[in-house]
Amino acid sequence: MAETTQPRIARHKAYYTELEEGRTYLWCRCGRSRSQPFCDGSHRGTDFLPVRHVAAVKGEEVLFCGCKHTKTPPFCDGSHNNLLADYPEDDPGSEANRAIPEVPCGEGGRSILNGGCYVFSTERAPKHERGGLRWCTVIGPELGSIHQSQFHFETGGAGDPPVIAFGERDVVLFVTEGEAEVTISGRTFAAKTHSGVYVAPGEAFRVTGPGDGGGAPVKFLASACPRASAPEWLDRMPDNFDAAHPERVVPLDPAQRQGMANRYFQMLVDRSVGSEVVTQFIGHIPLSKAEPHRHLYEETLIVLSGAGCMWTENLKAPVEAGDVIFLPRKQLHSLEATSPEGMLVVGTIYPGDNPAINY
Ligand code: FES
Repeated sequence: MAETTQPRIARHKAYYTELEEGRTYLWCRCGRSRSQPFCDGSHRGTDFLPVRHVAAVKGEEVLFCGCKHTKTPPFCDGSHNNLLADYPEDDPGSEANRAIPEVPCGEGGRSILNGGCYVFSTERAPKHERGGLRWCTVIGPELGSIHQSQFHFETGGAGDPPVIAFGERDVVLFVTEGEAEVTISGRTFAAKTHSGVYVAPGEAFRVTGPGDGGGAPVKFLASACPRASAPEWLDRMPDNFDAAHPERVVPLDPAQRQGMANRYFQMLVDRSVGSEVVTQFIGHIPLSKAEPHRHLYEETLIVLSGAGCMWTENLKAPVEAGDVIFLPRKQLHSLEATSPEGMLVVGTIYPGDNPAINY
């Protein structure tokens, strides 16, 4: 009975496919086709029918589900990650991996890997000063990004921290150190260490330590999407807070963790606080090296704790707390945690809403 009512797993990951505009595709739902990910008629006698998809856009890039357990057929939704007890791993000590050289940290605090991927040291990077803020660009068009930008900020200098804006972009903050007060277009929120914060398009923000600009220094990163070359500095705080989304700060909450094989993650900034196209999450990587894979979104990873190594096709670079990893779309990569306690990382994906999707 189960032979005809259960889908077969064709493979444990998605099939990347570039579609031809106007063409109809029949995705195999039963998993029995020998022409994966497409139907070859092998579903006859089972309870399954193929799913039709018509490509609406020239050059549309999709990930057809290969495990046949997706809840968003015909496309991958990350369900394949939970069909195995352990996240697929790679052996860092294999002969091929042992031959891969480590790249040194270069000018500006960057270790540059294949395909424009890099590791950025926020500690070593030179900083600009603006009011009471020290800041630097971590990701942006000048450093090779197509979609995202990200900036590192530290409060605690002389003068009041300035008001920052990024025009009509979605902005996602993450507090890496200190207890922050974040004022968004006139509305003030408390944001503890390791909280995510959403700033809507057109709004502006200021980050201080608690107590009207005093208190211990705060370190935070701001991702602006689509990409921006630099922050805009405003003379005064606007009062255009978007009250349609009154909740903006998302703290760490172990009760909100979602399992992904032997890993877990918690969504921080997503649609629940009004962010439609940029998604921020925090995830734990156990002592291991992930199987090399790719994503269709651009991604940044802030390393919060632990140490490890970022691998691309034939280069690798060490990573430690305080580093940021930039990953271009479709770049083959593998992040290895080398600390016994694993690594804690914060990811920002754009455009995208599901960090579990990979291929
Ligand atoms: S391959 Fe099936 S959900 Fe990803």
